[in-house]
Amino acid sequence: MPAEPLSFSEGDQLRSWLSRTPPQIPPKWLYDQRGSELYEHITRLPEYYPTRTERGILTEHAAAIADLTQAKTVIELGAGSPEKSSILLRELGMRDSGHEFIPVDISTTYLEHIESSMAKTLPHVTVRPIQADFADRMPFTQGEPARLVLFLGGTLGNLDRLERAEFLARVCAAIEPGDFFLLGVDLIKSRDRLIAAYYDRSGVTEKFIRNIVNVARKRWGATVFDEHFDYHASWVDEESRVEMSLVANQPTVMTIPSLDTTLSFGVGDRVLVETSHKFTRESITQEVLGSSLSVARAFSDVKEDFLVMLFTKE
Ligand SMILES: C[S@@+](CC[C@H](N)C(=O)[O-])C[C@H]1O[C@@H](n2cnc3c(N)ncnc32)[C@H](O)[C@@H]1O
Repeated sequence: MPAEPLSFSEGDQLRSWLSRTPPQIPPKWLYDQRGSELYEHITRLPEYYPTRTERGILTEHAAAIADLTQAKTVIELGAGSPEKSSILLRELGMRDSGHEFIPVDISTTYLEHIESSMAKTLPHVTVRPIQADFADRMPFTQGEPARLVLFLGGTLGNLDRLERAEFLARVCAAIEPGDFFLLGVDLIKSRDRLIAAYYDRSGVTEKFIRNIVNVARKRWGATVFDEHFDYHASWVDEESRVEMSLVANQPTVMTIPSLDTTLSFGVGDRVLVETSHKFTRESITQEVLGSSLSVARAFSDVKEDFLVMLFTKE
């Protein structure tokens, strides 16, 4: 039996993702305490260029972002660690702005860390953490402009095309004219560099992906055998995404009695545990413009590995 039963909507969503071909996992389930710790480790791996590249872009352009937005409140969706938001809050603080920070995350591990760390490093900032699923609804309501909503770390790339469109439409509906949306996405690059980032030599990404087996056992009450699966990461050109899968190395079955679900795997069948879509400047601009936000500025690194875009609502 799971430690805590799944809610009706969690069970419904999970059942529907698991019934896809191949079965897929909603990304939020990867961030239990161990998953959050492993992700933090991933961000410091030499092969994992996105975090340090995005942090470099933000450090270089924080003053411009602070000048343009003069944001009183910063809201971060899928906040993760406080590192990148702190760069912006510090710069806003120098302009007597950025007094309030609302980190939104599914992971209480991350939210607790943000609160304790910012109390020490940015004591003038009031931190109001919200534990919520950003796929359900935008967990922030009207507030005084200007608000700056952050969605960094390439997290948008974990959603598929339709989910991205729905997510961006919800952001657009939740913000007001005068507010800003800052989005960080990973750009398409050589297949070798992309794959290396998800096949690190120390095997931390594999541990992060395999941790879903523990989550399945503990949170969904699943019966599933870790040793019956191998980790595999591949670049799928037609989808512009890296796919991280657990591939059955022998015939096996995963059962989740609480969801009335049984999944049977032959050798080579897989569970698609995480996807990370990559973009071009043009492709992401088109997607966001579909949600009627307008581009205010775009910032990149010299190698054009990562892109940070600032949007406004007319
Ligand atoms: C790829 S990490 C990025 C973290 C951080 N923003 C960064 O730039 O390094 C994704 C983050 O989003 C959170 N997350 C994933 N799915 C979520 C969901 N549906 N609702 C809220 N938070 C979610 C995870 O807990 C994690 O902190």
